[in-house]
Formats: sequence, C-alpha cells, structure tokens
Amino acid sequence: MDRARAAALRRGPGAGRGGGLLDVTDEELLAEQHRYYEARAPVYEDVYFGRSRHDRGAVLDEGWLAETTALEGSLAVTDASGDVLELACGTGLWTRFLAPRARRLVAVDGSAAMLAQNRARVGGAGVEYVQADLFDWDTDERFDLVVMGFFVSHVPPSRFEAFWTKIATWLRPGGRVWLADDSAGPMRPRDGSLVVGGPSYAHRRELGDDAYTIVKRFFTPEELTTALAAVGWTADIQATGEHFLVGTVRPTDQTTG
Ligand SMILES: C[S@@+](CC[C@H](N)C(=O)[O-])C[C@H]1O[C@@H](n2cnc3c(N)ncnc32)[C@H](O)[C@@H]1O
Repeated sequence: MDRARAAALRRGPGAGRGGGLLDVTDEELLAEQHRYYEARAPVYEDVYFGRSRHDRGAVLDEGWLAETTALEGSLAVTDASGDVLELACGTGLWTRFLAPRARRLVAVDGSAAMLAQNRARVGGAGVEYVQADLFDWDTDERFDLVVMGFFVSHVPPSRFEAFWTKIATWLRPGGRVWLADDSAGPMRPRDGSLVVGGPSYAHRRELGDDAYTIVKRFFTPEELTTALAAVGWTADIQATGEHFLVGTVRPTDQTTG
C-alpha cells in the first residue's frame, strides 16, 4: 500500500473526514487491524480489567465484572482437557485458564507484541505459540476444542464462510468451538466508532495520537446463531447481560437430536 493511501486509511473511510477512503478494501482493513493490535498490545487488557482510562468506578464496574466473570465461568465449564487450539490468543486472557487444563495447547495470533505478553504470562506451561495471519494459516492437526475470544467480530463478512469452513477441518469428530465476543446492544457499537461512508463493519479505534480503521462486527446472540447456521454450524450462544455474548458452536452435521 503506498503512503498516501495508508494515510488516507488512517483518516478513515468516511465522507467528510478530510479525504479518507470510500473504497477501502477488506484486505486494507485487515492489514490495519494487524497494526492496531500490535500497537495496542501494551494497553490491551486495560479495557477488560477496567484500568487506566477504562476505570469507570466501582458501581459501574460491578456490572462489567459480573459479565467478565460469566465469560470466565463459561470457559471453566467447557471441557478443555484434550487438545486445544486457541485462535487470536492475544495477551492470554483465555490462555491462562486453558494452559493448566489442556493436554496440549496451540495458541495462534498475528501480533508479535501480543504473543510476547502471552508467553511472558503463561508460556512456561508448555503452550505452543504460532505467529500467523489466521486467514492464511492452516494445519493438518486436529483438536478437541477451538477457543476464540473476541475474534469472530474481527472477521469481515467476505471471509466468514471460508474461515468457519477451515475451523471445521481443525476439529476432531465431536469437537466444538467456544467463543466469546462483544454483543450488539445499547452499549455497542459505541457512538462515533462506526465510519461514516465506509462498510458497516469498518470501525475507528483511537490509540494515543493515532487512529486505526479495523473490522468490527456486532452481533446479537440470535444474529450470530443465524449467521453460523447459514455456514453449517449449530450454536448455543447467550448474552451475559449488556456487554458480551458467549457459548459453544458445533458443526451441524455432527449435531444429534
Ligand atoms: C480483540 S483481540 C482478542 C485477544 C484475545 N483472544 C482476548 O480475548 O483477549 C483480537 C486479537 O486478534 C489478533 N488478530 C487480529 N487479526 C488477526 C489475523 N488476521 N490473524 C491473526 N490474529 C489476528 C490480534 O493480534 C489480537 O490479539
């Protein structure tokens, strides 16, 4: 991508935003998404743990904490004792719970900075880390459980079916996917993050003095269940309240009853 186009992308694809791109491609958004997470790695967990500028005070955080606890509780009751593949593992919010339970854990992410934090936190537990773009990466190995925290929302519609088709090939018969993500609702998307004039899944994220335009899709549990059914998966997904959705997903052709 030439520098002028990269600069225009940083301004965002919105009309009236100082000459941003209206014809942004999914490939450009995904490349920007890589740069965003690489830059965000040092402060990534501030949102989840309500730190720094995300500290909203004890009363507001009570609800947030109840919902993050629900996510962690859902993973705790999911069988992770076999071979586990974690997609987009990030800094290790889920890896830290999986590593002590899994017979084998392979954790993939595109960001070196995210993986470095994850490795520093849980790497001693024998996690096998892979730095790769998940839209290119593949493996012949098979897993009992695939874990995907806050990544399904970063898959553009154009890649959704192929991505889920590939996940199906990574699962052993009887295997399933555990996922968690932001839920569409009154709290999401936040005001002003959706890029005017761009695709409905192009969202701006500010980080220090920089702004990035990335893929972010907001589903309700019902919308995600429907989208997954259309590409051959049966989902059992619930809302945790205002913020998140969580649940498990299995290939429909292996669903009995
Ligand atoms: C919202 S974070 C989720 C991290 C972690 N799963 C969690 O729940 O905290 C999204 C992660 O996806 C990774 N990522 C984004 N696009 C990717 C891609 N195309 N291939 C691999 N990883 C990607 C980012 O580096 C980041 O770690």
